[in-house]
Amino acid sequence: MSEAPRWAHVDLERIPNMKVPPPGPESERWHRRCTTYFKGLSGQVKLFPVTFESGYGCVLRDADGNEYIDFSSGIYVTTLGHCHPKVTEAVQKAAATLQNAHDFTTPVKTKLVEKLAEILPGDLTGFQLYDSGTTAVEAGLRVMRAATRRHELISCFYDYHGKTYGGVSLGHIRSPVYGPTRAPGFHMVPRPDVYRPLWTKADGTIDTDAYIGFYEQYLDKGTAHQTAGFVLEPIQGWGGSVMPPDDFFPKMRALCDRQGILLMTDEVLTGMARTGAWLCTEHWGVVPDVVTLGKGFGNGFPVTCVAVREPYKESFEAISASSSYGGNPMACAAALACIEAIEEEHLLERARHLGELALQRMERIKAGHAIVGDVRARGCLMGIELVKDKATREPLDEAGKRVYQKAFRKGLAWIPAGHILRMSPPVVMEDEVLLKGLDIIEEAIGETERELGY
Ligand SMILES: Cc1ncc(COP(=O)(O)O)c(C=O)c1O
Repeated sequence: MSEAPRWAHVDLERIPNMKVPPPGPESERWHRRCTTYFKGLSGQVKLFPVTFESGYGCVLRDADGNEYIDFSSGIYVTTLGHCHPKVTEAVQKAAATLQNAHDFTTPVKTKLVEKLAEILPGDLTGFQLYDSGTTAVEAGLRVMRAATRRHELISCFYDYHGKTYGGVSLGHIRSPVYGPTRAPGFHMVPRPDVYRPLWTKADGTIDTDAYIGFYEQYLDKGTAHQTAGFVLEPIQGWGGSVMPPDDFFPKMRALCDRQGILLMTDEVLTGMARTGAWLCTEHWGVVPDVVTLGKGFGNGFPVTCVAVREPYKESFEAISASSSYGGNPMACAAALACIEAIEEEHLLERARHLGELALQRMERIKAGHAIVGDVRARGCLMGIELVKDKATREPLDEAGKRVYQKAFRKGLAWIPAGHILRMSPPVVMEDEVLLKGLDIIEEAIGETERELGY
């Protein structure tokens, strides 16, 4: 078992360190000034409007000097911890050498794409680089359409793929602004959720074949027979760390091959060590035709990627793939340094270990609390589902916000929830720090149960 890297050591005698009840006066002062002009905040900030000044490894520091254990990695972004020394050094060096050269070849870009071809599974050997997850998703859709000369796309309920037109048309965003404008040719189908199955076998377990059978019918009866392919998150992040059954992706791969359509996986959230593999679908031995990478790909530096299998490489030519910032030297330096750090610090193994440790601890939390219905982890992507009743599994929405705020006040910076608590700690975290974070969550769950009369 790999050890956490020494540079990310956290002294649990000292951290979390809550000097003043957060958000403290300095946090409030900055937040008031900033939000006079900066609008459209996420739920994460609205529910806990603290001002962060610095971060290192697994620790975040606010403007009042409070120090928190980080259980969110920004929002699934700083997988290698804040200010990883290797990534910082690589970006600083690149910034002082060459910042942009459009899509001309640079040595650092060459090294990055060669490295990607080496580490990614199968024949994923064609790459283009972008600056956000959603622009990578858009490019992935264009490649699928160019490769197949078909335009229809199928995605899944509760998946999330970003906020541009294509991303929104694929994803589950129910804003009145987007609703009436979902692009033509986009279809949505349900996907298997082991805890909340739509179709089950006689023994009550999830029936993956029923989902696949439905997709086959849908392709025939619900589309114009112009389907380019399926687009899926391997594990739903925003949807609540929802894991598919282990036979789902192999069966999806076979379905796409049978139908002559493409399989695109959106690994913006799940890729590059988050789940303990370069790509999450490696856990199931599946190579997609098109895959997107983002978030942890640059550990905070905005760099994302579309990777395609060998037969589809030339389709990038048809989509006018380049962009202003895609593949700039600073971005490539950040991404390359991340990959090298993951290898040098054995972080794929580390993430898998942390996931197993978390699951054991969360199983005990589940056993001890009436409102905890399900717990799950794949590497450092974790979820706890809160329910009114373990038998009926009815979601307990009013608990999520309370648990989020209580744990934050105790020094855990993390992701807000409806009824599903979502955790994405950095993969450089030490065992004891992970367990401390889960202790804080358990305390917050206990206090919430008492408040709600369980
Ligand atoms: C699976 C997935 N795809 C795409 C995106 C969009 O990425 P970005 O916010 O970088 O545009 C996200 C962001 O959360 C995501 O989780």
